[in-house]
Amino acid sequence: MGKLSVSILSADLANLADQVKLVHDDADVIHVDVMDAHFVPTLTMGPIVVAALRPHTDRTLHGHLMVEAPEALFDDLAEAGADVVSFHVEAVDDPAPVIAKARGAGMGVGLTLSPGTPIEVLSPHLEDVDVVTVMSVEPGRADVAFLPEALARVEAVRAELGRRGLPADLEVEGGVTPDDARRFVDAGANVLVAGSAIFGAPDVGSAARELKAIVGEA
Ligand code: DX5
Repeated sequence: MGKLSVSILSADLANLADQVKLVHDDADVIHVDVMDAHFVPTLTMGPIVVAALRPHTDRTLHGHLMVEAPEALFDDLAEAGADVVSFHVEAVDDPAPVIAKARGAGMGVGLTLSPGTPIEVLSPHLEDVDVVTVMSVEPGRADVAFLPEALARVEAVRAELGRRGLPADLEVEGGVTPDDARRFVDAGANVLVAGSAIFGAPDVGSAARELKAIVGEA
């Protein structure tokens, strides 16, 4: 069963709890884009926002760490109530100890790949993660059109997961819209992350419902 992960980066952050309620029926995951203005130029949010949201949702809270030294945030994110953290393979020398540290903090863990990074770097770690995220935009901004070359990368990672019989979720993030969502599901993604296509829609709830109907078939 596919999952919809709703990114709050494009939500009306002045009314965040109400915005999450609008998507709650269809969101399996609430996706929190943590950016540090170093790994990516933008500065967004961190554990304090996860803590603020925690009492308002029972959905999985997934921190996507677009930061240098992601392990420095694990304890605070766990304390704030994050269920899963993903970090960029490009941000660390060796993902293995960082994966272990996230687990040690009591959270699920994922690896995220920026568009220019060879997918082969994931291979040694696929057994150890709960989710792999293929970025279909350069990290750092919401509301950017997806890069079509991401489709082949999704297919290749799905093939590798299948070849090795691994249960990790395969997630696509960046520029996912209802028009193109099925292409990512057909390529093998079972989780779609979407922000601006939902919170930028005239009817937020129906946009989430539409995307959930598509990914739900995965
Ligand atoms: C980019 C962000 C976005 C976000 C999804 O760094 O990570 O990809 O989660 O936002 P949309 O759906 O607007 O691309």
